[in-house]
Amino acid sequence: MSRIVLGIESSCDETGVGLVRLHDDGTVELLADEVASSVEQHARFGGVVPEVASRAHLEAMVPTAERAFAKAGLGLSDVDAIAVTAGPGLAGALLVGVSAAKGYAAALDVPLYGVNHLAGHIAVDTLQHGPLPSPCLALLVSGGHTQLLRVDDIAGSITELGSTVDDAAGEAYDKVARVLGLPYPGGPPIDKAAKEGDPSAIDFPRGMTGPRDAKYDFSFSGLKTAVARWVENAERRGAEIPVNDVAASFQEAVADVLTAKAVRAAKEMGIGTLVISGGVAANSRLSGLARERCEAAGIELRVPRPRLCTDNGAMIAALGAHLVAAEKKPSALDLSANPALPV
Ligand code: KG4
Ligand code: ZN
Repeated sequence: MSRIVLGIESSCDETGVGLVRLHDDGTVELLADEVASSVEQHARFGGVVPEVASRAHLEAMVPTAERAFAKAGLGLSDVDAIAVTAGPGLAGALLVGVSAAKGYAAALDVPLYGVNHLAGHIAVDTLQHGPLPSPCLALLVSGGHTQLLRVDDIAGSITELGSTVDDAAGEAYDKVARVLGLPYPGGPPIDKAAKEGDPSAIDFPRGMTGPRDAKYDFSFSGLKTAVARWVENAERRGAEIPVNDVAASFQEAVADVLTAKAVRAAKEMGIGTLVISGGVAANSRLSGLARERCEAAGIELRVPRPRLCTDNGAMIAALGAHLVAAEKKPSALDLSANPALPV
């Protein structure tokens, strides 16, 4: 008897509602993945404004859920379990999803699972590539997080090996785009500009790669500052900014550090699979270089399609389905959001 799991995501600027089917053999099938984004409302601020995000979630939650059910051809009464992002994320934004999920769970009398957003970014890969081997390594790179995780069991055992000590990788993309006069969010336009540029034009610093640095941690704030300083100096000289070369050289530094550390961790721990997820996983150079380096090291690389990599409800539904399959204990109905929820 297959089961339907509803997933709700509202940790940042995306209101996501997903529906998946958990089959008896433990595989999880994607049925619907509806997302409403408030990204355009934040564009002129160059970053997500929490109050604006919370209000947008409130407005979008019910219509997005209705669209998901319509897409899947299902009704509320078909739902067997509900999963919702309990953290980490913006407090007010998380609360909108958690409240909605509690309401649905109480009304439908089905189990509720408050889940970790980061684990959701990994679980989503099972919708495209099937069950995750154990153990596997996950590199999460988005506007809000940059983490290297060891996954022994997606339903319960995830260990953080390292994370950024300052900016997230996507945040660095957004800030560098601003310096270069490119629009927000900065990842896609930098990716595009970089295709026309020379990645070896400027030798930007690779953060946290010194012998005394924690080997699985990351730092992008020095790189961001180096790019800003380079551009300022060029402007002071009255030189035209070679936007494509700066974008390509910056992108190369990010992809180099991320892939080098992930592959090193996989080798040192004897782990044969690397999953890269989060908005920055859509970056063409990151996935290209990861593919090259994983192939050379004999590591299987899994990168979900871009639509699944960015924040969505299907990733939360997928994680919920794995918790249901593992017969994990549901959360109590007084579940609350935890903006700093550890993985
Ligand atoms: O996962 P996501 O949608 O939301 C967060 O949880 O943050 O990630 C958004 C981030 C933004 O910083 C955006 O600039 C970045 O992902 N991004 C990219 C690309 N597409 C999106 N970064 C680099 N290259 C891309 N192609
Ligand atoms: Zn995310």
